[in-house]
Amino acid sequence: MADAQETVLELFYGRWRSQVLYAGVTLDIFDIFDVAERAPMHATQIARELGLDCALGYRLLRALGSLGLLQEHDAHAFSITEAGELLRSDHPQSMRDAILLREGPEHTAVWKHLPAIVRDGRQDGFVREFGTTAFDHATRELSYGKAFDAGMSSQSNLQTTWVIEALRDYDFSSVANLCDVGGGRGHLLCHLLVRYPHVVGSVLERPSVIGDGQMLWADKLEVGGRCRYIAGDMFVEVPAADAYIMKMILHDWNDDECVRILRNLHRRASRAGRIFIVEHVIPDSGGPDYAALFDIHMMCWGTGRERTVQEYRSLLQASGWEFAAIWFPPNGAIGVIEGTKFESP
Ligand SMILES: C[S@@+](CC[C@H](N)C(=O)[O-])C[C@H]1O[C@@H](n2cnc3c(N)ncnc32)[C@H](O)[C@@H]1O
Repeated sequence: MADAQETVLELFYGRWRSQVLYAGVTLDIFDIFDVAERAPMHATQIARELGLDCALGYRLLRALGSLGLLQEHDAHAFSITEAGELLRSDHPQSMRDAILLREGPEHTAVWKHLPAIVRDGRQDGFVREFGTTAFDHATRELSYGKAFDAGMSSQSNLQTTWVIEALRDYDFSSVANLCDVGGGRGHLLCHLLVRYPHVVGSVLERPSVIGDGQMLWADKLEVGGRCRYIAGDMFVEVPAADAYIMKMILHDWNDDECVRILRNLHRRASRAGRIFIVEHVIPDSGGPDYAALFDIHMMCWGTGRERTVQEYRSLLQASGWEFAAIWFPPNGAIGVIEGTKFESP
């Protein structure tokens, strides 16, 4: 019984924890610390420098301490922990923008429709809340568009490493031209271009995502000469390539929409073309796994879902591709499903 109560209480505190985290990031608390010096800072000094109310600021710092993101010392002094450092804007693996998106106003608002969505069998949380789909909202509301694109790059700080680890033994020698469909600001593609210098690549994206050259990864990673950004619509036309990669794309869409996208890729792929689908794959055997939670986020946010390997296999088959393999990084956090172009002789 005590364990059962503990289980429910832990879940009950979930949103409070993530909202404390969100407040800490929004108020720039993690950026205030001098990580080189590592000296604790007094709560009053933190509040003064960030323009916070002293008493309420201290209570937020204390809560961040209870989550292991700060450490509280004597006399209301705090230092930043290793986990807290991941929330700084200058950390190379920063998760700051991912938190700002995931716990920000739009994404928290759509979750409140979950019971109604499940009851009605209509997956339209964004439309219920904002009267339009998420990508239309991102185009119209600059603040959401920017937060979304920055959040994707921030999550890619982890996911790109996982993809590279998953494909570490993959033979890329016959891939000359790689297209990242819905590739955001190019985090994944440009890191792959750094790793495979013989490859040239393209990122197909919605125009508003790639309009600001300053935000794109190609120049930051010095692969601008081998990377093209193409404004377009993957439901209409994709660039020709001999390999495609799509990270966190198919989970945005229902099965019919996925098949439309996959058929477009199949049509433009070279004869021996292949495709890499990067997603949170739902394990066959159930059990705790955050793919199942991401699936509910997709249910609230748009028409998409997370899928099992078998479900990806069926999507590939329905669009002319043949399932070839699935690759995982050592931590198993994501799956890279490989398909090859199947053409009847
Ligand atoms: C969930 S995000 C993933 C972005 C990136 N692949 C990543 O993993 O960071 C989905 C991306 O698909 C893009 N997208 C949505 N609809 C699109 C369309 N019709 N054509 C091209 N890209 C589209 C969005 O702009 C967004 O960047």
